Amino acid sequence: MKKCALLLTVVTVMMFASAAFAADKIVVGFAQIGAESDWRVANTKSIQDACAAAGIDLRFVDGQQKQENQIKALRDFITMGVDVIGFSPVVESGWDEIIAEINEAGIPLILSDRTTDIAGDDYFVTWMGSDFKEEGVRSANWLVNFLKENGRDKDEINIVELQGTVGSGPAIDRKKGFEEVIKDYPNLKITQSQTGDFTRDLGRTVMESFLKSGERIDVLYAHNDDMGLGAIQAIKDAGLKPGTDIIIIGVDAVKAAFEAIVAGEMNVTVECSPLLGPQFVDAVQKIMAGETLPKITWTIEHVYDLRKENLEMDGYVIMSAEAELPNRQY
Ligand code: AHR
Repeated sequence: MKKCALLLTVVTVMMFASAAFAADKIVVGFAQIGAESDWRVANTKSIQDACAAAGIDLRFVDGQQKQENQIKALRDFITMGVDVIGFSPVVESGWDEIIAEINEAGIPLILSDRTTDIAGDDYFVTWMGSDFKEEGVRSANWLVNFLKENGRDKDEINIVELQGTVGSGPAIDRKKGFEEVIKDYPNLKITQSQTGDFTRDLGRTVMESFLKSGERIDVLYAHNDDMGLGAIQAIKDAGLKPGTDIIIIGVDAVKAAFEAIVAGEMNVTVECSPLLGPQFVDAVQKIMAGETLPKITWTIEHVYDLRKENLEMDGYVIMSAEAELPNRQY
């Protein structure tokens, strides 16, 4: 009995100690999605490093790709009374109740990377991230140009698609953007499409099942590089040459994708930058200083493939992956 009481006291003291804030520090709660991809790992590091450099007391929670974990983290941040909440929602829907609680508590909310389907934009102070639909458009435009450059623009092309997490902003919008372009090319068809949940392991498993269907596959469109890299392994295991027998399109532009492009095993990666930490911290500091912020800040991004010369597109550039490889931080 005495042991139980002692344990309870220790646990209570620990809880209060972890919730206690230093008076001179800004306290930020950040509910991250998980560590599902190289992109996400780099995004977490960017946020943690930027907060540490600015002397921010960061309460970081990894939601392990589960909405209920993120909701719990957000509720805990309200109870702790953090100064600002940062949040990247794993899926778009199902946030109404917890966001209403954050708003009622009067805690400023910064959305980063992904958004929710809640109507209007009053519920958050600012959002920063990538245009996922445009990434889908760029992926499809790259394919159309590539087929033309290689004299295959009249061929019947079978495309398999590895979608991101079901119900997530990037999965919905990357699909939408890609389909919007290919609908004007009746010879380009998505013949198989399934989620790989943005992970390398599932990318590989789902690609194995696509290949087992026995259907001819000309192109893989992977909603992120990790799934594409997993699929490359499955393609090799099936005795085929990724990048040659099957054209591989990825999104994110992580270092491993650049290495695969240089090795000739991947054809292109469409950039989606995870380095949002400095912008996030800037927003936190401005909120605390009472400054007004733009509602939306888009990241400027490009596309990387095997070319040597840059190609100017509308609002972006297609560049050499080989030249960029030594500069990649993630
Ligand atoms: O929301 C950004 C996406 O999430 C990245 O493309 C993907 O790799 C990550 O898991």
